[in-house]
Amino acid sequence: MEARIREGWGTRIGFILAAVGSAVGLGNMWRFPYATADRGGAAFVLLYLLMVFIVGVPVMLAEFSVGRRARLSPIGALRAVAGPRWAALGYVYVATGFLILAYYSVIAGWTMRYTLEALLSGFSASPSEYFEHSATGIGALMYHVVFMGVTISIVVGGVKGGIERASLVLMPLLFFLIVGLAIWAAFQPGAGEGYQFYLRPEPGKLLSADTLSGAAGQAFFSLSLGMGAMLTYASYLGRDENLPGSAATVSVSDFAVAFFAGLVVFPVIFAFGLHGEISASSVGTLFISLPAAFLKMGAAGRLVGLVFFVALLVGALTSAISLLEVVTSSLIDNWKLDRARAALGSGIAIMLIGVPCAYSLDVLGLYDKIAGEFLLVVGAFVLAVLVGWRIPDPLGEVRKGFASERLLKGWLWVIRVVVPIILAVVIYQVGKAAVELVRATLS
Ligand code: TRP
Repeated sequence: MEARIREGWGTRIGFILAAVGSAVGLGNMWRFPYATADRGGAAFVLLYLLMVFIVGVPVMLAEFSVGRRARLSPIGALRAVAGPRWAALGYVYVATGFLILAYYSVIAGWTMRYTLEALLSGFSASPSEYFEHSATGIGALMYHVVFMGVTISIVVGGVKGGIERASLVLMPLLFFLIVGLAIWAAFQPGAGEGYQFYLRPEPGKLLSADTLSGAAGQAFFSLSLGMGAMLTYASYLGRDENLPGSAATVSVSDFAVAFFAGLVVFPVIFAFGLHGEISASSVGTLFISLPAAFLKMGAAGRLVGLVFFVALLVGALTSAISLLEVVTSSLIDNWKLDRARAALGSGIAIMLIGVPCAYSLDVLGLYDKIAGEFLLVVGAFVLAVLVGWRIPDPLGEVRKGFASERLLKGWLWVIRVVVPIILAVVIYQVGKAAVELVRATLS
């Protein structure tokens, strides 16, 4: 068999921006504000921050280290570093990616539709009816198909020519848009009230197991952890990249975008007295309350709304790319398909699996609970145990290009003890909720 040369990133900044692109997405600008509103405001934000740094950064570093050590996508990488039985975890990762992208693309499709709406006709005068009629049905299906088509076409372009090139343009654009929006929002009447809800924790709300598991789940989803996306991106890295530094940079950037998204959403929502709507928890909240607020601002609102949805769409696209890349690279590595076939075949399969989500919000919510919450946390738990306790010399790979031996020892301790304990609590909580939801949906 001829030896194949593995693709790779062109530059360090290209890798960083692609990983940030994976992390920053609907999770930051849509799920984070809604999770914050749903779980008590500022207390949740604080716990989320803690979870990003105590659990998120260490797990990301673990994924990076496995990916670069093996230089293979998840299935082959786990087999190579830990033995054949651990390949099973790789299959779970690929399945999780399938399910997440299937519904993620439907929501990204809504975003596409709202972007066009802002551009062509302005937001509808009755936002909830508009959402209800556009979130499901043939229209939703068409946007889902178009979005998957765009995602596939970039992944077909390859690691350097497709993913890296897109990220180098799109990520700076997104940062610029979201910071601009946050500055604009600061000048809205009522901004103060929004900030207060967002940034001033009420004592006593902090320490519930429910808020904790919500914050941890949000951190995993937002940082793209628990299904091998970061592992796969790191498998395209050169040998002497500083992995701890990269994990920190990516996580800080991801938190920053989520934080700025909150600085946009809460002042806007509070300025128009729509607070009640956002905490009425449903996947559609932001797609109803934000356009309602933008509508009341007249022409300026239409422009600002357009910018917001463009930023959301950009984030969704670079995240979807990473989800499809996990599946695609597994097909390339394990079944020796060429990239175009692998991306097209898996992309179409994912699109089909997403069809039910384009017809029912209940099904969409179910996919999110099972894959976007439960499987991610399980996937990260098993990986932490594997890296902490099973693979030989776990520090060897992360030591390259990084100086502080004490921090490295601290990392290993967190991966061995702290992460498994916290995740066990979260798995219990989320598992309970998922079982209830499955029961309720089936009955
Ligand atoms: N992190 C992305 C977001 O916040 C979504 C995403 C991309 C993802 N790749 C992932 C989530 C892998 C979990 C696992 O929108």
